[in-house]
Amino acid sequence: MSSNPLQTVGLTEQHDSIIDESAEILMGLSCPQKMLSPKFFYDQTGSRLFDEICKLPEYYPTRTELGIMETHVSEIARRIGPHASLIEFGSGSSLKTRTLLEHLDRPAAYVPVDISKEHLVSAANSLKTDFPQLEILPVVADFTHPFPLPDPKITPLRNLVYFPGSTIGNFDTEAALELLSVMYQEAGEDGALLIGVDLKKDTAILEKAYNDSAGVTAAFNLNMLERINREFGANFDLTQFEHIAVYDAELGRIEMRLVSKREQRVRLQGHDFDFIQGEHIVTEHSHKYTLEEFREMALLSGFQVDKVWTDPASLFSVQYCSRRKQQN
Ligand code: TRP
Repeated sequence: MSSNPLQTVGLTEQHDSIIDESAEILMGLSCPQKMLSPKFFYDQTGSRLFDEICKLPEYYPTRTELGIMETHVSEIARRIGPHASLIEFGSGSSLKTRTLLEHLDRPAAYVPVDISKEHLVSAANSLKTDFPQLEILPVVADFTHPFPLPDPKITPLRNLVYFPGSTIGNFDTEAALELLSVMYQEAGEDGALLIGVDLKKDTAILEKAYNDSAGVTAAFNLNMLERINREFGANFDLTQFEHIAVYDAELGRIEMRLVSKREQRVRLQGHDFDFIQGEHIVTEHSHKYTLEEFREMALLSGFQVDKVWTDPASLFSVQYCSRRKQQN
């Protein structure tokens, strides 16, 4: 067992921003297009399966982004400059964060922000061992809403919001714009954003990445039903749903689905939900962008894209955005 993490790192909790999850599930299943929030993916099994997805031969984003970070980290660190406070939205990507922290010039603090206290504490603790000098200030918060930042002992010269993993793609356009606006606020004056953005490409490559041959993504998707059974008292029959991910070229996004294999009824907290054969629940979207599309979106939220790094095949991008200078 690890030592009590709360004694080694300061922890800020923003509980009032976490909304009622049962209500959210009931509402999602009551919509004409049934849906469940991707946040229910990440219980213990879900997190383990997700780590496995990241290592799959078909799933190119993780290793491509890591490759880009490793190749360009010196230049990235130079751009960020000394005494920056690194504010990471979501805290599941310690490998990329480590690469960055190793190269940053005397960072003022590392502020991981996550809705899951467990993730946060384990991320903070593992970094604490390797970066003993670094002040680590985890914040438990739903980062889609503005939250107060902790005050590092060293005054940062700049806040650098870090959002790797193309998690921005998991938000639909309007929500993505709102999230970028929150990042703009949290970055503050002279602040910047370093963000991983997956790029548009051949449909076959995209669909393979989310329909792997080993069936790990399928297990990951179905695990959400298992979790909803266990934690919220539903009775989904896991053998009667199947995973498929479809790329919608018009909307530029992968849609993760759980398809009902037959007509069936599912019960949850006194409510019945009927499925016809072939009907699906949407569990996640993963939007893909062209560089131009992302630049537009950044601009709308107040950011200008200063620099883009990609891999040789242009599968993925890491983008440095600063707060847009007022033009008078
Ligand atoms: N944001 C990444 C993506 O959309 C990682 C991810 C989130 C993911 N949920 C997933 C990958 C489900 C595979 C399956 O690609």
